[in-house]
Amino acid sequence: MFRDLRQKANWSEVKMKQQTYYDSLDIVSEYSRNRPTYSSRVRDVVMKYFDGTGSRPDMLLDVGCGGGQATNVFAPLFQKVVGIDISQKQIESAKRQNKFDHVTYQAGAAEKLDFDDESVAMVICAEAVHWFDLEKFFSEAFRVLKPGGCVVMIGYWTPSFIPDSYTGDGNELNLMHTQLVQHLFADEIKERIDGYRSIMRKYADVLEAVPVQLKSRLETVVDEMNWDMDRFAGFMRSLDAVELYNQKQHDQVLRKNGKVTAEDFRNYDIVPKFLNLAANKLWGYESYKDPNISLNVKFEMFTIAATKPRD
Ligand SMILES: C[S@@+](CC[C@H](N)C(=O)[O-])C[C@H]1O[C@@H](n2cnc3c(N)ncnc32)[C@H](O)[C@@H]1O
Repeated sequence: MFRDLRQKANWSEVKMKQQTYYDSLDIVSEYSRNRPTYSSRVRDVVMKYFDGTGSRPDMLLDVGCGGGQATNVFAPLFQKVVGIDISQKQIESAKRQNKFDHVTYQAGAAEKLDFDDESVAMVICAEAVHWFDLEKFFSEAFRVLKPGGCVVMIGYWTPSFIPDSYTGDGNELNLMHTQLVQHLFADEIKERIDGYRSIMRKYADVLEAVPVQLKSRLETVVDEMNWDMDRFAGFMRSLDAVELYNQKQHDQVLRKNGKVTAEDFRNYDIVPKFLNLAANKLWGYESYKDPNISLNVKFEMFTIAATKPRD
């Protein structure tokens, strides 16, 4: 259903929105500092699948590579690696952090891959395929893949986050968080709702859209970490709904007052508001700044994979 909706949308408009989104907002530095990377367990699940195809690990293409979060995890296992992203800012950020001689980054769109037919052993997309035009992307991915090569799509939704001290029902808490997020960001996420739904449904629509027989859902990996509230606040700032919300408030104040002061920002900034609601109303702390709050954070990493037929 969501795929149909996306196909109906004007593609160049969607593309512009993606491009301007990461390029115009100041999210890229938050993104590279605060998004999780992918654990060796996620990498092992993917590489077990890749090894099963009998392909040689020569060239890896990471599409929607962002700041290189997944590129770095898979790079040591391939001879040549290219990361592409539609956002020039993300590409600059990826280049800045790159430590591998055999890895390069370049701007490019998932729907028009600038690579030769049958030149790539594996295409990966980490937390990105839900923004692509699936039909165009798959047509390109299976064109550039060598016979027997595979395309792998990893995704995660907002993590569950529960203070170590909390003894209540974690599921109840997560449901409240989801409702809170939906309430706060109802307007901001309207345009991006198809992508979010795709992640919430763990890429069921993506799996359905893959145009080959050899496709499957791989083992889901739960990556667990401990974060303090500062780290969690940073993660929140890397979320597009948060950035869009604050941007909207910023624009309103600017229109009204002709300038935006640091105090204005403190008044409208959604991050401390959200964290205080959670800390105070849900977990019983006076403030989210309470140094005793330590969060158990769990990301559920799900993966879809498909292999290009050899004949
Ligand atoms: C949520 S970020 C994921 C970044 C990184 N792969 C990670 O795992 O954290 C999604 C990325 O997809 C990129 N993107 C969105 N639409 C794209 C498209 N049509 N072609 C290429 N990249 C795209 C965005 O610019 C953004 O950097």
